[in-house]
Amino acid sequence: MSRMVIPGTTPTDEKLFNPPEELQKDAHIPDFESYLRLYKKSIEEPEEFWKEVAEDFFWKSPPKGEFLKYNFDVTKGNVNVKFMAGAKTNICYNILDRNVNEKNRGEKVAYYWEGNSPSHSCSITYNQLLKQVCKFANVLKNMGVKKGDRVAIYLPMIPELVYSMLACARVGAVHSTVFAGFSSESLCERILDSQCSFLITADGVYRGDKLINLKQISDEALEKCIEKENFVIKNCIIVRHIGEQKNNANVYNSFQTPWNADTNVWWDDVMKNSSEECEPEWVDAEDPLFILYTSGSTGKPKGVLHTVAGYLLYTALTFKYVFDYHPDDVYWCTADIGWITGHSYITYGPLANGATSVLFEGVPVYPHVGRFWEIIEKYSVSKFYTAPTAIRLLMKYGQEPVKKFNLGSLKILGTVGEPINPEAWLWYYNVVGEKRCPVLDTFWQTETGGHVITPLPAATPLKPGSATFPFFGVLPSILNEHGEELEGEAEGYLVFKQPWPAIMRTVYGNHERFENTYFKKFPGYYVTGDGCRRDKDGYYWITGRIDDMLNVSGHLLSTAEVESALTEHPVVAEAAVVSRPHAVKGECLYCFVTLKNGREFSHSLAEELKKQVREKIGPIATPDFIQNAPALPKTRSGKIMRRVLRQIARSEKDLGDLSTLADPKVVEVLFSQRWEATA
Ligand code: PRX
Repeated sequence: MSRMVIPGTTPTDEKLFNPPEELQKDAHIPDFESYLRLYKKSIEEPEEFWKEVAEDFFWKSPPKGEFLKYNFDVTKGNVNVKFMAGAKTNICYNILDRNVNEKNRGEKVAYYWEGNSPSHSCSITYNQLLKQVCKFANVLKNMGVKKGDRVAIYLPMIPELVYSMLACARVGAVHSTVFAGFSSESLCERILDSQCSFLITADGVYRGDKLINLKQISDEALEKCIEKENFVIKNCIIVRHIGEQKNNANVYNSFQTPWNADTNVWWDDVMKNSSEECEPEWVDAEDPLFILYTSGSTGKPKGVLHTVAGYLLYTALTFKYVFDYHPDDVYWCTADIGWITGHSYITYGPLANGATSVLFEGVPVYPHVGRFWEIIEKYSVSKFYTAPTAIRLLMKYGQEPVKKFNLGSLKILGTVGEPINPEAWLWYYNVVGEKRCPVLDTFWQTETGGHVITPLPAATPLKPGSATFPFFGVLPSILNEHGEELEGEAEGYLVFKQPWPAIMRTVYGNHERFENTYFKKFPGYYVTGDGCRRDKDGYYWITGRIDDMLNVSGHLLSTAEVESALTEHPVVAEAAVVSRPHAVKGECLYCFVTLKNGREFSHSLAEELKKQVREKIGPIATPDFIQNAPALPKTRSGKIMRRVLRQIARSEKDLGDLSTLADPKVVEVLFSQRWEATA
């Protein structure tokens, strides 16, 4: 297991960064002793601990039977986790009605929406949010959406995305949000897997200066659903987003796609006469809330399923403590809601706390490279949460674009999605945070629902590059290859020994896959798939994936998924994909392709293959390197030796033990033809 190191960096765990005293004065967890005390309670008396958290929320009726019940051991029966089972509640009621009616936050801003273009923005109060959500919940009901129905959402970062998710939650439907950068093929696959009978999309979106026709991609996805499984969606609701802002009618007209009168309806048409009042559907604590797909090592994405009560409690508490939330904060998470970070820390966690957030549609470098810093100044953002890849990208432009803006409002900085290299950490700390703001490296996954290993800003002395310590209720362990728990300083598999409220409950429609993926390798433990090192002070350092998964700009991709997109090309016989370190993206894709007999490799074919992957999966999966591989290095039993391919991709000369290879000459050929030039 090797530590993922960004080129040109050296990990350092020497210097401790202590929490600023200013922050400790009124922090929820003001020092390390308080953290330890509460942590002990959360592990030793989980029921008491979470019952107190639950008291802050509304329950139509209390849990029946045990408050927390679980089995993590596959050898003793089905793996399952039940939290407050039998209690009746509604998450939308808890994060909207409760704020408006009980907490007197109706006039408070829930979101400052900032468009792709700086001239587009608006603010939405809790009152307004509740009304829009109720109106859309009534639309869904009128269309026949019922408790348990799956609704696909394929929207850009606009308020309607939040309205749609919360309207589903209000009527007890299960939302399945698909990141609006995914291809029609990926959207189709996700709609079919969870049999979504409704789709909510938009006419289009500008990302930077690029116009993306979301309606056309949605139409293609729905056609593919019919072709593949004769599956017909009941309704497709389209938000008029580009149409709203058209300043050039010709561009807009040429952009429109055919209208299917059987299924298509405009969002604003159906919303026009919809009532602003909608009684929430009271659902069980363990009823499904949403499905969110994440890459799986077999290539087929997994529908990670989260349930209502545990997810509510956990996202609410992690948001409160990790960002040390206070009522006058303006919080901004730059993630897209199409990923788990946006679900937990743009939609549910902040709203559960009655927070004010920025909802940003655009990209970090449009219309200029100081856009992030400009927005922080504009809204006086106090808590800022982004990805290491964004920091590495913005670091390239130096300090000047940052210094143009007043970032004096900032108090806490966070990162998520991938390991942060110490250089990026220090730049973020020194330049953006002006040495005043702790940088929180939060480790978690789609599956964990919320932060699991994370610093707390006023309590945890920081080490750049370390996610530090477990959150309340989370009991990590490091195992060796034989499944033995390692004590003290150690490196191995990161696992968790007991559930926390927001752990995923199943893979939608495939519980066996859930058990096989996360619980089979080491019975009795949840296996994260990440490697981890614990240092002499007990700090946890995530070392990167130890399965066939890649992390490109904070997005997980499976090698199998990319390989199958490549082998669908008519001239490709076989493909093997590995990761190569990348200065901005963290990792990038390096693909080896073996062509069918008689086919010639060329630069234009490489470009065609990149395009193919882009179209099959989406732009995030675009390979950086395609190398011709007359043959792939295989063991005598026919298994591709990925370790060797990874080393070739990284131009490592010492390839280690090659004795198990069927034909060692293959490696020489590949090494001599390494694709150094095209990035
Ligand atoms: O490999 C870890 C990496 O991202 C994976 C989870 O990806 P996803 O489900 O898409 O969720 C990303 C946002 C929560 C993890 O298994 N990862 C996430 N955060 C970190 C990280 N690796 C190192 N340090 C982190 N802080």
